[in-house]
Amino acid sequence: MNLVDNFGRKHTYLRISITDACNFRCTYCTSGKTFPVTPRSQWMLPHEIQQIAESFIEMGIQKIRITGGEPLVRKDAAEIFQRLGDLPVELALTTNGVFLPKFIDQFEKIGLNKINVSLDSLDPLEFYRIVGVDDFQKVKNAIQLAVQRGFEVKINAVPTQSTSAKEILDFVQLTQNQNVEVRMIEMMPFSGNDWDRNQVLTKEEILNILSNEYSFSSIPKLKEETAQLYQIDGFKGKIGIISTVSDPFCEGCNRLRITADGKLKNCLFGKREDDLLGRIRRGEPLHEIMIDNVRAKHAQTGGQVLSSNMENRSMIAIGG
Ligand code: 5AD
Repeated sequence: MNLVDNFGRKHTYLRISITDACNFRCTYCTSGKTFPVTPRSQWMLPHEIQQIAESFIEMGIQKIRITGGEPLVRKDAAEIFQRLGDLPVELALTTNGVFLPKFIDQFEKIGLNKINVSLDSLDPLEFYRIVGVDDFQKVKNAIQLAVQRGFEVKINAVPTQSTSAKEILDFVQLTQNQNVEVRMIEMMPFSGNDWDRNQVLTKEEILNILSNEYSFSSIPKLKEETAQLYQIDGFKGKIGIISTVSDPFCEGCNRLRITADGKLKNCLFGKREDDLLGRIRRGEPLHEIMIDNVRAKHAQTGGQVLSSNMENRSMIAIGG
């Protein structure tokens, strides 16, 4: 059985948030504020995450990305990884990198080899201004470790109008000698992040900065990929731009999301949430609600126009 929506999009990629707690306070996510964390009793337990993941795999999910909050702050994260590692599915992780070294052996063992690390500036002071924590060196070291150990590493940055052209070019420079992908994401609106359309640094503006310095080519994009990739002539790595705001790419979407409290969302910007955790705690099957949820998916951006007063959760409570 497959999870196909009314627009013919087949869903094969599930993102599971395992906590909405985070050790960072990124401006683009929480606007620097501390968010209340969901009470632990409402989080999915490791065996519940496994059970939910199994139901999705039966329905055609081939890839699961673990997200947060920050997934590696959860105390029983290792048990969750172990349980998911035993399932027939490709595993990936999004993390801020601080606790990555602690888990790297386990990731190798369970075959989780795709890691996206958030790194919003290459300047320690600017990094501190954006994320609110003085962990620049830890994150840099973690990235280096993962690259050395042969993981497929992508670096995520959310540049805005306050980001200098020099900063963008420094990120580009990272791709000269290392086979990394640096992805610049247009800042998206969520509850509590004080989004302002005028603050978004758009794909077009980023490309202008690149073309002033370099010649580059664009790499053909698969329809389900979010990032349009570019490569500077002669450089080893790649630059990705995720243009959710200026040029959304919903027609190729193959994603579903589960929040840490076990709610299924068919879109990052969608209002609809279906309670999976409640259902499995009552011993009810999930297949029917999964199909209903997918059928209700809107053509684009959850049926909403991206704006500062959209109805949605905060990003920290959805999962990055
Ligand atoms: N806009 C764009 N990307 C965001 N992320 C979090 N919040 C936003 C936002 N408002 C991305 C960042 C972060 C990952 C977890 O999610 O890249 O690294």
